[in-house]
Amino acid sequence: MSKEYPPQQLHIPVMLDDVLQLLEPTAGESYLDLTAGYGGHAGAVLNITGGPATLVDRDENAIEHLKGLDLKDAKLIHQDFANAARQLVEQRQAFDMVLVDLGVSSPQFDQAERGFSFRSDAPIDMRMDPGQETTAAELVNNLSQDELIKIIRQYGEEKPFNARKIAKAIVDNRPIHSTSELGDIIRQNIRSKGRIHPATRTFQALRIATNDELGQIEQMLPLLPDLLKPGGRVAIISFHSLEDRLVKQYIKSEKEMGLEAELEPITKRPIEGSTTDVHNPRARSAKLRGAVKIKNRKDYTR
Ligand SMILES: C[S@@+](CC[C@H](N)C(=O)[O-])C[C@H]1O[C@@H](n2cnc3c(N)ncnc32)[C@H](O)[C@@H]1O
Repeated sequence: MSKEYPPQQLHIPVMLDDVLQLLEPTAGESYLDLTAGYGGHAGAVLNITGGPATLVDRDENAIEHLKGLDLKDAKLIHQDFANAARQLVEQRQAFDMVLVDLGVSSPQFDQAERGFSFRSDAPIDMRMDPGQETTAAELVNNLSQDELIKIIRQYGEEKPFNARKIAKAIVDNRPIHSTSELGDIIRQNIRSKGRIHPATRTFQALRIATNDELGQIEQMLPLLPDLLKPGGRVAIISFHSLEDRLVKQYIKSEKEMGLEAELEPITKRPIEGSTTDVHNPRARSAKLRGAVKIKNRKDYTR
């Protein structure tokens, strides 16, 4: 059973009980959080381990928030996780547990000025790292119609007909200044089934493109075996099928390596947030997968 969380928490960690069951933290074990956010998962793990920990996030607002929490002298790294993971591997740092909780935090989504939501009127920003140069507005106002179609289809998984209509409407209405303006242009040009807003998929696509979210995951996954000590556990939470597909394929490809494999899946199928964390609306689309670094393989050379 999942807990009910206090409403004043800025970001309610998703599937916390499942994550703790999967990572199995014990006193003194080391923890790496590649998407530390507002420290919900990290705080719960550190309450059990007492440290040491390394917490990474590309959003300086999250890092500032983490500085104010009691996180047992955790080392904080303000960087994207592909680069942070690469550097940690170069420094030969390995951990007993690694957590990757993908996607955006509630403050990123809820603060209008971050420009992630069509429900508020703000510049079309969508940068997880506000120090990054390219904003979603630059993509919206500068990409060619064909490039927009490709992004909206690939990253928004939008139907080809809709993607073409949306891209044309964007190009015809440029420059587009605000999230609500963009949301309205999309709403006026396509229909979507059910209660989902017609702009949802396009906003997801622009967010993924702006932050190179899938590229980040592709670069980080192969570094996981080096980031784990033998017997170390990794848990990965994804929020849409594009993310989960990459994670699933990576864990599967490791398994298929047979004796060469470094990771063993812990979860045969993903654990679904919709069934285990019913009180947290953010968990509705969450999927959790886990793997353990193989301990005693005879031919293990690392
Ligand atoms: C879902 S939230 C994590 C919440 C966190 N587990 C907690 O309990 O507060 C995702 C966080 O990951 C960060 N993030 C997403 N992609 C990242 C990347 N490629 N590199 C570093 N941080 C990333 C976001 O900035 C955001 O703060």
